[in-house]
Amino acid sequence: MTAEKSFHMTPDEFRRCGHAVVDWIADYHARIESFPVLSPAKPGEIRTALPANPPAQGESFDALLKDVERVILPGITHWQSPNFFAYFPCNASGPGILGDLLSSGLGVQGMLWSTSPACTELETHVMDWLVGMLGLPEKFLSSKTGGGVIQDTASSAALCALLAGRERATNYGSNKKGCNGKLVAYASTQTHSSLEKAAMIAGIGVENLRLIEVDEQFAMRPEALAKQVEADKRAGLTPCFVCATVGTTSSNAMDPVDAVGEVCRQHNLWLHVDAAMSGTAMLCPEFRHLQRGVELADSYNFNPHKWMFTNFDCNCFWVADRKALIQTLSILPEYLRNQATESGAVIDYRDWHIQLGRRFRSLKLWFVIRHYGIEGLQHHVREHVRLAQEFAAWVKDDDRFEVAAPAPLNLVCFRHKGGDAVNQAIMDRLNRSGDLYLTHTKLNGKLTLRLSVGQTNTKARHVENAWKRIREEAEKAAAADARRHG
Ligand SMILES: Cc1ncc(COP(=O)(O)O)c(C=O)c1O
Repeated sequence: MTAEKSFHMTPDEFRRCGHAVVDWIADYHARIESFPVLSPAKPGEIRTALPANPPAQGESFDALLKDVERVILPGITHWQSPNFFAYFPCNASGPGILGDLLSSGLGVQGMLWSTSPACTELETHVMDWLVGMLGLPEKFLSSKTGGGVIQDTASSAALCALLAGRERATNYGSNKKGCNGKLVAYASTQTHSSLEKAAMIAGIGVENLRLIEVDEQFAMRPEALAKQVEADKRAGLTPCFVCATVGTTSSNAMDPVDAVGEVCRQHNLWLHVDAAMSGTAMLCPEFRHLQRGVELADSYNFNPHKWMFTNFDCNCFWVADRKALIQTLSILPEYLRNQATESGAVIDYRDWHIQLGRRFRSLKLWFVIRHYGIEGLQHHVREHVRLAQEFAAWVKDDDRFEVAAPAPLNLVCFRHKGGDAVNQAIMDRLNRSGDLYLTHTKLNGKLTLRLSVGQTNTKARHVENAWKRIREEAEKAAAADARRHG
């Protein structure tokens, strides 16, 4: 009998290569500060280094790892560098990475409870834990009327919330007959662009997404929201949904959830609270005042993949009334029918989001929560906030700079007083240097720099060095600008 031909990796090969990959990742993290934070790659450069055609014969795993080092690394922007201060963080951690690896190792597709009961039940359990950990209302618990589900991103969570709000407002009729062009949704001018995308996909239409004005702190004006809702009702339209943001992307502004929630209650509108980044701060009771009124929310989400050490992707989304979400998204074709589902005793998460198939994401979240404990998570969140607040104080003390928006947590928006060109030059020079990575926004029409503290290993020395480098480049940029203007 001849041995059956196989191209697969043997278990022993897997063990050897797996150890090599884990070693590579550990070494990468140990030397991460030696790389330029923002990849210096030019468009097309990485592809040029790749062979034009795929290999006809399989190659050795060692050759693959060598190419990761030679071809891929130069094209990596090092999000896990402690000198990464751009956008919002997307932090990772040892337990998160290993939990994700285990999820791949198990290779589970958890669309139904019966396709891996542990995948569903661990998720439900961890999501219930988080309700308590974040001080969220009890109605979000699976033992009450609500429940939580892990989505890929905050964008998907917003879409699901908007769809549920749309269906509730039309008595589940728009799923059947389509939208009639009369549904209206509300967010602020500072709301994340994912809401605009959700309005497009949900058939609301971007023109029917009202962007409500904000106050001088970039927070939604609830009285402007109320006025707009009333005007839309008078015009015969059907208001259905409001998104309040706890920590806007641009400047970390906090919409007044309590006052916005009151408007929603009066007009029976679905209130979605988007706390994508800042939700993690709610691990610490002293920050929960920033989302006062959250008990009025119909849905809530935050991204552990931003600031809670759980590598991308992981979004936690809760609803107060799971029936509304399930009625919006449930479809049961014959081939998915099974006894557990029919019994009504289980959760089938495929009914809680857009896609059917789903990864075992709760494993990494569970690993992170168990590794750090509430105390460890709170410690690092508080430390990031402390570092950002210290940075804001340095900016305030330097009369060449100004803080451009309130900094309630770990994001500081600031600018050099020399104007847009100087700020652009400071940012470009810093990012080109590779020493750190900063991004910008526009506030009141002015280019504004953002320092976002939240990478897992960012410590005082990194923030101190960032401030030193910012001042160095500011001097050069301001001098060059003065020369240009004679
Ligand atoms: C407030 C807010 N909402 C939504 C998002 C979108 O996040 P995701 O990439 O998970 O869709 C972001 C991203 O930065 C955000 O800051």
